[in-house]
Amino acid sequence: MTKTLNYEITNIELAELGQQRIDWAAKEMPVLLKIRERFTKEQPLAGIRMVACAHVTTETANLAITLKAAGVDAVLIASNPLSTQDDVAAALVKHHGISVYAMKGESTDTYNKHVRLALDFKPQIIMDDGSDVVATLLQERPDQIQDLIGTTEETTTGIVRLKAMEKDGVLKFPAIAVNDSATKHLFDNRYGTGQSTLDGIIRATNILLASKTLVVVGYGWCGRGTAMRAKGLGADVIVTEIDPIKALEAKLDGFRVMTIEEAAKIGDIFVTVTGNRHVIDRKHFEVMKDGAIVCNSGHFDLELNLDALAEMSSSRSSVRPFAEEFKRNPSKTQVQGSIVVLGEGRLINLASAEGHPSAVMDMSFANQALATEYLVKNRNQLSNTVQTLPEELDREIAALKLEAMGIQIDKLTDEMIKYMNSWNVGT
Ligand SMILES: NC(=O)c1ccc[n+]([C@@H]2O[C@H](COP(=O)([O-])OP(=O)(O)OC[C@H]3O[C@@H](n4cnc5c(N)ncnc54)[C@H](O)[C@@H]3O)[C@@H](O)[C@H]2O)c1
Repeated sequence: MTKTLNYEITNIELAELGQQRIDWAAKEMPVLLKIRERFTKEQPLAGIRMVACAHVTTETANLAITLKAAGVDAVLIASNPLSTQDDVAAALVKHHGISVYAMKGESTDTYNKHVRLALDFKPQIIMDDGSDVVATLLQERPDQIQDLIGTTEETTTGIVRLKAMEKDGVLKFPAIAVNDSATKHLFDNRYGTGQSTLDGIIRATNILLASKTLVVVGYGWCGRGTAMRAKGLGADVIVTEIDPIKALEAKLDGFRVMTIEEAAKIGDIFVTVTGNRHVIDRKHFEVMKDGAIVCNSGHFDLELNLDALAEMSSSRSSVRPFAEEFKRNPSKTQVQGSIVVLGEGRLINLASAEGHPSAVMDMSFANQALATEYLVKNRNQLSNTVQTLPEELDREIAALKLEAMGIQIDKLTDEMIKYMNSWNVGT
């Protein structure tokens, strides 16, 4: 009996373009391709029902194809209403027989509907990005927990939520924190978000960054990358933080550090990357300069209090694709003029650009592929906690990446090993 392929996408006719772009991305993903080769032979995930919630990009497509090659039966949904590449969704359905529920610009209701449709599939593995699927399962489908082998989580925000579930005693399955692998956050969050966030700002505005004052809110992995790359493009970068260690690091990295209250008055461009709520709030929007540009590259749009901005504005209108101008009402704000919000406050690197370059997603998704295999291989043996992949898998990914780049590194000699394991030899 042939299985019906269910999907909800924008336009299946876009499949050829999507396939072309998926193939292009694959050229920069040698580690994932190597894993795909092995998975094709060994079929480690044969017959596993999986829901993948991810940004539907060319890189995700390469991961989905890899997982399918390993034998999974997968459903893919978008992890954000604005991040789907419609041509990629079409190619996955038409050329790879993968059920996709994702449309760029889908409403929050449609996004939520897709999460439930995915859960109807009764997944054994959930690959999540932000933990919406897992949170919905726990809240609405507790009877499905027994089917679950485990979950893998892509991003910082999702891991914060999973740890809160663990603390509340509701995490009844193992969760692999993919973001916490060194080969994920050191490269994806830092260099991937750094480059693609600026790419998103530039595509949405075509603005010259040199000479502009750019405020980075949050100096974690994403913030470090964004600040570093903005500096490279000539921006005068200000960092705001709540953590004294990160703030000190930013200062010694050469950035101005101050409170968001102060920065709000002088910034030309603002980027939030904290994973926190309302880090730019009403009182900050009230004092921003006329024409200030505001965007978010953290996981959820709630980093910006856009309701407050809308409430203090007399009108809002689209001025370019992914750029909306809010005209502040002079009676409700200290400074007059407009504020431009990019990408509806959603991840700007995926809203107006294409997300991270394939070369970094190669490592992130190698982690996802190996994490899925690890969960299946160690079924019923892992604790119901948030845990990282074993360090040797992380190192294996780094070694494969170096090999693909043609880079060789040194090896410890016996003498070095002996020295590193001794305490009695000093000067
Ligand atoms: N755009 C992307 O493609 C992408 C990629 C990876 C991660 N993310 C998301 O970006 C966000 C940040 O991720 P990360 O890995 O950098 O996290 P992180 O934990 O390394 O850094 C977050 C930083 O924000 C700081 N912070 C928290 N509240 C703050 C506030 N009110 N003001 C200033 N600073 C504050 C924290 O002290 C911390 O240093 C998360 O939501 C994550 O899921 C986005």
